[in-house]
Amino acid sequence: MAQLIPAILSKEVSEVEEKIRFLEQIPEITEVHIDFEDGLFVPNDTVLPKDLFGIKTRLAIDAHMMVVSPQDYFHDLEHLGASAADIHFESFIGFTELLNAVSNLHTMKIKVGVVVNPETDVEIFKSLIPEIDVAFIMSVYPGFQGKPFLPQSLDRCSVLRKSYPNAIIQIDGGVSKANIEAVRAHGADRIVVGSGIWKNLDPKQTIYELLEKIK
Ligand code: DX5
Ligand code: ZN
Repeated sequence: MAQLIPAILSKEVSEVEEKIRFLEQIPEITEVHIDFEDGLFVPNDTVLPKDLFGIKTRLAIDAHMMVVSPQDYFHDLEHLGASAADIHFESFIGFTELLNAVSNLHTMKIKVGVVVNPETDVEIFKSLIPEIDVAFIMSVYPGFQGKPFLPQSLDRCSVLRKSYPNAIIQIDGGVSKANIEAVRAHGADRIVVGSGIWKNLDPKQTIYELLEKIK
């Protein structure tokens, strides 16, 4: 069964906390995707992991690091209690540096997703799959919520699924009630949804509708 992971992207700690508290009321939701942006890797900035130290939650935290130096935040992610860190292939100068970062996170008992931007060839996963926990495809150019889903992401997902039948595949960006079934059918296991939840008048009802479509 695929998993729905709601996304929170905000500059305000209060908004992050409010959305976490909202999600905690939905028993079917066990994990939250929190977007962290430094204003350099992407043209937007958000709260950073240390801003959230005061927030305790039952939800597992999937930390998406849209930053130029993800390793600068690893200790903060450990302190935050993140269960997974998603680090971008594009943040690293080479495979050696990336694999060092993967190993450092694993030492901290944090799972690792490696993320590829839309223009990065999914071939890069060939040498990485045995070392990482999640192969993660961006289905928008990262930075903001509410961008339209890039249709080529479906093929990228299928290619990964066919090449690595046992891999855990995560997809993020532009997913909504309109396309979540297609995303699932193309092989995604972990499906991140931001504005597809928050922009609806009834986000709770929307979460249940999304869950129904992927069960
Ligand atoms: C985009 C972020 C996404 C975003 C998802 O840069 O990485 O996680 O919050 O929001 P939607 O679903 O609106 O694209
Ligand atoms: Zn994200």
